Amino acid sequence: MTVPDREPILDVKGLHKQFPVYGPFGRLSGVRARVQAVTDVSFELREGETYGLVGESGSGKSTTARTLLGLTPATKGEVRYGKRNLTKLSREEWRAFRKEIQMVFQDPYSSLNPRKRIGTILEEPLEIHGLGDAAERKQQVFRILEIVGLRPEHYFRYPHEFSGGQRQRLGLARALIISPRIIVCDEPVSALDVSIQSQILNLLKDLQRDMKLTLLFITHDLSVVRHISDRIGVMYLGRLVEEAPTDGLFSEPLHPYTQALFSAVPDFTRGKLERRKPLQGEIPSPLNPPAGCVFHTRCPWAVDRCKREIPQMREVRPQHRVACHLVEEQADKNEPSLAP
Ligand SMILES: Nc1ncnc2c1ncn2[C@@H]1O[C@H](COP(=O)(O)OP(=O)(O)O)[C@@H](O)[C@H]1O
Ligand SMILES: [Mg+2]
Repeated sequence: MTVPDREPILDVKGLHKQFPVYGPFGRLSGVRARVQAVTDVSFELREGETYGLVGESGSGKSTTARTLLGLTPATKGEVRYGKRNLTKLSREEWRAFRKEIQMVFQDPYSSLNPRKRIGTILEEPLEIHGLGDAAERKQQVFRILEIVGLRPEHYFRYPHEFSGGQRQRLGLARALIISPRIIVCDEPVSALDVSIQSQILNLLKDLQRDMKLTLLFITHDLSVVRHISDRIGVMYLGRLVEEAPTDGLFSEPLHPYTQALFSAVPDFTRGKLERRKPLQGEIPSPLNPPAGCVFHTRCPWAVDRCKREIPQMREVRPQHRVACHLVEEQADKNEPSLAP
């Protein structure tokens, strides 16, 4: 499933996002604190792959997605797409650029205008981007309805007439109708029943293959991320702490956080049920994240260095990057060739 030699299509470098927190009188009271939602996140999306971003609620997954899509400005960092740095695009430039990169949300219903028929809703993006004449647009909508597994008569219906799974098909149809190259899916199946989840995930996989899409797939669900991803990035408290091809990550999670996260699900892959050390304590506040390694307050192996020094992401196995002093030290001892 790995795609080691593909070209990067999107290159995220040192992305930071802070949200100001105001006092009781809003902006008048001035900034009281800053939420560190995303801190120094770097990864690349490779052409045609599915990159899964996983982590507990509040770890900064949605903010990462929204920032790289220009829905909220980055505090610092770059998002490279070809020669362009997307964090520098103006509102106008983004409007044109949306044709290349689209987003699918957890609850498409909230973004489907309840008073408009599906046909009108799906024709809108084509109109905005000036694609085709009225007849061609209509034809295109019927085509996309079929592609996402809906029927021609759905063209005339209203959003409330659809089930959860069908609405997510509509969400996909609306994202796909202008033929983007990248789709960012934020928890697209988390609100659906398990049986419907796999239908949508399989649809997404088929679409990706047929339309040569690159996917950034965000979820807190480990079995979902494993099913869909070629590579996975693990986030904790706004930081990327580990990244690896899916098989490598599940067969050998290296970061103590990833190990703890995986211990929450029984692991049958080695022929026996195995449980790793579960996660201790609460996730710290992003208003005041721990110094050094952000995970040190919950890490069973933390040493003094972890409280002082921020570990950097380092490749300790081919394509397997991890930000942990201890893993790094181990790798240095066992495999001297990996030493800097
Ligand atoms: N608009 C906002 N204003 C202030 N804080 C925010 C805002 N959006 C998100 N946050 C905070 O940023 C952190 C990351 O949130 P989010 O990106 O939604 O995480 P996830 O998607 O992984 O659950 C959380 O602590 C959240 O409360
Ligand atoms: Mg989220």
